Amino acid sequence: MAKEVKTIGVLTSGGDAPGMNAAIRAVVRTAINKGMSVKGIMRGYAGLLQEEIVDMDGTSVADTIGRGGTILYTARCPEFMMEEGQKKGADICRKHGIDGLVVIGGDGSYRGAGKLSALGINTVGLPGTIDLDIACTDYTIGFDTAINTAMEAIDKVRDTSTSHERCSIIEVMGRHAGYIALWCGIANGAEDILLPERYDGNEQMLINRIIENRKRGKKHHIIINAEGIGHSASMARRIEAATGIETRATILGYMQRGGAPTCKDRMYASIMGAKAVELLCMGKTNRVVAHKHGEFLDFDIQEALNMKKDIPEDQYEISKMLVR
Ligand code: ADP
Ligand code: F6P
Repeated sequence: MAKEVKTIGVLTSGGDAPGMNAAIRAVVRTAINKGMSVKGIMRGYAGLLQEEIVDMDGTSVADTIGRGGTILYTARCPEFMMEEGQKKGADICRKHGIDGLVVIGGDGSYRGAGKLSALGINTVGLPGTIDLDIACTDYTIGFDTAINTAMEAIDKVRDTSTSHERCSIIEVMGRHAGYIALWCGIANGAEDILLPERYDGNEQMLINRIIENRKRGKKHHIIINAEGIGHSASMARRIEAATGIETRATILGYMQRGGAPTCKDRMYASIMGAKAVELLCMGKTNRVVAHKHGEFLDFDIQEALNMKKDIPEDQYEISKMLVR
C-alpha cells in the first residue's frame, strides 16, 4: 500500500511560462482539499538548497489563476547539477517533511526531479515551457499563451509593413525549437518561416522569393525567424542591400513569455496540477504528466527524457503550400 502523503512541495524551475500559477494553484488546492499540507519552494532548486520554503494554504493562491509568471519565482541552479547539491536537496525535503514534490519546468527540471526521486523523494514533473519542446507531450504549459501573444504582435507589425511596402523579419522565441515560429508563421500568413530544425542558411533563396513576390505585386514580405537562427538585424541589412526593398527586423523577445494565460493554459495547467497530486497520493514517483493524442497521461521520467520530438513534417509542408 502507498505510504500516506501528508505534505506536498511545489516548485517552478527553468524559464517561466504563463499558466505556471494555474498549475501551482491546482497543486495547492487539490492537496488541501484532500487533507494534506503544502509547502511552496521559492526560486526552483536554488531556493530548495537555500531552504526558501513557505507554508501555503488555499488563500496563498487566491487571485493567481489569471496571472502570468510564477508566484514562486524561478531560477536556474548549477549547484543542483552536482550529486552533492541533489543530496542536500533531498535532505532538505526530508527535514521539512515533504513526502511528495511537484516540479514544474522543462527537460532540465525533469532531470533534477529524477535525481531527487532516486534519492527517495517522490517527485512528479509538469511540462512548463513556452517552447513546446518536451518530447513526451503534445502540450506544454504556456505555449498557447505565447503563440497568441506573438500572433497579435505579428499582426500589428504586418499592418505597418504593408503600409510602407516593406519586408519584415520578426524574430520569435525558441532557442532550440521552432514550434512558436511554425505556429505563428501559419497563423500570421508569413511568406517565409525559418526554423532551427529546418533552415539550411540559404539566404539567396529568400532574396529570390522576395524579389519574385514584389514583381507579382505583393506589398509586404513577412519572414518569421526563430531565435535559434537569430541574427535578424544583420539578415535584414543583407536583404535590403540585395533587394533594394526596405527591410526591418523586430525581435519580440520576453513579451512572449509574460501576460495573462489563455483559457486553454489555465484549464490544462489546472488539470495537470490536480493529476500530479493524485499521482503522488497513489505513491507514484519519477513520473511526468503529459497530454498526448488528446489524453492526459503520465510517463516515467527517464522514458520521457529518452523520447524524441521533431517539427511535424506535414505541418511544415502545409505552411509552404499556404503561401502565394
Ligand atoms: P528547463 O527545466 O526549462 O529545461 P534548465 O535546463 O535550465 O530549464 O533546467 C532547470 C534547472 O534544472 C537547472 O538550473 C538545474 O538546476 C536543474 N537541472 C538541469 N539539468 C539537470 C541534471 N542533469 N541534473 C540535475 N539537475 C538538473
Ligand atoms: O522559456 C523558453 C525560452 O524562452 C527559450 O525560447 C529561450 O531559449 C530561453 O527561454 C531564454 O531564456 P532566458 O533568457 O531566460 O535564459
